[in-house]
Amino acid sequence: MTYLVYSKYTGLLEESGADTLVVYTPIRDEKPVIPGDVSRLFGDGLGRVIEAEGFDAKTGKVLVYYPGKIFDRVVLVGVGEAGDLEDVRVAAASALNVLRDKPASRILLYIPDLGSLDVNDVVEQSVISLELAMYDPGLFYKSKEKKEPSIREVLVKTDRDFDEGVIMRAERIADSVNYARRIADAPSSEMNPESIEREARKLADKYGLGLRILHLEDLEREGLNGIIGVGKGGGIPPRLVILEYRGRGGDGWDVAVIGKTVTFDAGGLNLKPTGYIEEMKFDKSGGAAALGIIRAAAELELPLNIVASLPAVENLPGPRSYRPKDVLRMYNGLTVEVNNTDAEGRLILADTLSYIEKNYRPNMIFDLATLTGAVVIALGNYAAGLFTDNDELAEKLYRIGLKVGEKVWRLPLWKEYYEQLKSDVADTSNIGGRPAGSITAAAFLSKFVEDREKWVHLDIAGTAWVQKGHPKKPYYKNTATGYGVRLLVYYLLEKLGMYKV
Ligand code: BES
Ligand code: MG
Ligand code: ZN
Repeated sequence: MTYLVYSKYTGLLEESGADTLVVYTPIRDEKPVIPGDVSRLFGDGLGRVIEAEGFDAKTGKVLVYYPGKIFDRVVLVGVGEAGDLEDVRVAAASALNVLRDKPASRILLYIPDLGSLDVNDVVEQSVISLELAMYDPGLFYKSKEKKEPSIREVLVKTDRDFDEGVIMRAERIADSVNYARRIADAPSSEMNPESIEREARKLADKYGLGLRILHLEDLEREGLNGIIGVGKGGGIPPRLVILEYRGRGGDGWDVAVIGKTVTFDAGGLNLKPTGYIEEMKFDKSGGAAALGIIRAAAELELPLNIVASLPAVENLPGPRSYRPKDVLRMYNGLTVEVNNTDAEGRLILADTLSYIEKNYRPNMIFDLATLTGAVVIALGNYAAGLFTDNDELAEKLYRIGLKVGEKVWRLPLWKEYYEQLKSDVADTSNIGGRPAGSITAAAFLSKFVEDREKWVHLDIAGTAWVQKGHPKKPYYKNTATGYGVRLLVYYLLEKLGMYKV
């Protein structure tokens, strides 16, 4: 369910019945451009306020005007030069944020022609951004003082005609992003491996998905010893959760999405220190995104066969925990010397990658993982690290990411880096030292994939939630971002010819 109800409006501005008018305002010749109809209705007064407030229409800047007729308030929101869709997303969310504690309930969003930007893209990204901006985990836990915004409805009016279908598509995508955010944001007291299974079951029931859960005895029978090793120290036993969406029908699997689902990463016996451990409820963000992606695919009824899989574990220290220098015999037969129990994500992903590749033979495998602190050092909070041998796919994801607002940046998997993973006692170590930490983690994963042309690894440790204020965007609060859902859902749409980049 979306927070707001959206519809297309083609009537006159003054006849919409909305209490609030929001107007995207671009800059031309260094001046805000007020659309003709808005000038006609509010010209003089509005012009004076623009002057008095020094409103410059830079992206995300907001001016609130009280006209005393037709609308209770008029909100001009800058889209700057409207050079890309990020200007639009920032504008939409900035307008919503100023309306949040005002008694507005029905908004007329007026989108004038924005030059080079396609009107369907503008409407679609506006709806997504408004829904992301409505999300507020404070509402789930705060008792009294927090009030829900009174906004209920958004009418969308444009200069150039748009396809109404983009509204519903945006609603479905945004709703699944927010669904993923709720799972990633949930404290680990509520969201543990068992609750992940429950969430998957709810999705399976709601959308008619296939559901397979490998519990401890199944993991043992299959030899998924990476998942078992990491999960042994958890208070709740590990499991591998698999959801199957058959939107195409027929045999075979088009896409597999694997998400790291460490519901709390204390580091295990290599315990994380204060200052690092606090955010580790977010270590399930990859799994949350995988659930969001398959949910969106089902909502959009995409004609594809998709399998989502989540190795769900807690990485805790305790008497049953796996220990430094343990040797694990993994699902694909390789042995791993555990030199740091905090490098757990790669162990559970390795087993899941080989298990899914062997048993599902998907045409494409994506994994999403809050895998390394090193990727935050390399790329910060504005791009995920992307690893693949497939140049075409790398290029495509790069372009989609730019457009939909989830950027990726490719890092190499050159063979020199594999030296760092050498072990004296086993086939490989699970760590490669400090240099190039994200690359050696990806290199480790690659040892568990047979057909590397089909595989993409996304290290989302920097982008999965807002860390120390970044990514700084008006459509995120201090919350999980749902990173990966938009990127991969639009990738699927593009693959189906339903989206142009
Ligand atoms: N979940 C962490 C990675 C992480 C760190 C994500 C900070 C987001 C923010 C992962 O399991 C981990 O602990 N990685 C270690 C690997 C090291 C022991 C080789 C790291 O990055 O320090
Ligand atoms: Mg760790
Ligand atoms: Zn982790």
